[in-house]
Amino acid sequence: MSTTERRGLFITLEGPDGSGKSTQMRMLGERLRGEGRAVLESAEPGGTPIGMQVRRILLDPANQELCPTTELLLMFAARAQNVEQWILPALAAGKVVLSDRFTDSTLVYQGAGRGLGPDVVKQIDRIACHGLVPDLTICVDIDTESGLARAHARNLERPGRKESRLDEQAIEFHHKARAAYHRLAEAEPDRVKLVQGDAAPEVVAERVWQHVSSLLRSAAGA
Ligand code: TMP
Repeated sequence: MSTTERRGLFITLEGPDGSGKSTQMRMLGERLRGEGRAVLESAEPGGTPIGMQVRRILLDPANQELCPTTELLLMFAARAQNVEQWILPALAAGKVVLSDRFTDSTLVYQGAGRGLGPDVVKQIDRIACHGLVPDLTICVDIDTESGLARAHARNLERPGRKESRLDEQAIEFHHKARAAYHRLAEAEPDRVKLVQGDAAPEVVAERVWQHVSSLLRSAAGA
């Protein structure tokens, strides 16, 4: 299915680990459903059942020898499956598709964090995503230390949940990723909106909604 058949809207939630973006995506999904819209919620790496198998390889702390290029290709393997199997069909059916992370995460973590650079990420994106770019990207921002502290606390709270291989990376990796999110928001201000995540979830949700409702209004007028 080609991206030209799209009728729905594609909104991605991005941000450093522990920023609260997953909570925001759930709240946004509920609000959109409450307005009578059909919504598909997805998350990366993962999404589809095949993508979830790839996610386990990527996040398993035992896989310390996973090299950056393999990591990059596995992120896109999960994404290609998600785009073909879930995202494009849902967009063609007119749904609002919400994705917890998408290619911006790869630009930020593998491109900047691992130092692979943006060009290789964009090249593979063209193959894996068929030119699919989000209509709106909400980047929930939080300072690196507070985000990681929240992510560690969340991991401890959940029985059986270990720190992931990516949570365990040196703080420098996470600093680079956050700085790259800020550069993305500067480079693409119409698409990528930074939202401060250091407030109660309901307050952050209102900030998110300002951007989403503005997209919905412009899509309705188009
Ligand atoms: P999550 O905690 O939001 O589920 O994401 C899992 C980890 O995967 C997180 O540390 C960010 C990382 N990640 C990448 O490094 N590159 C990517 O392309 C994606 C989607 C996630």
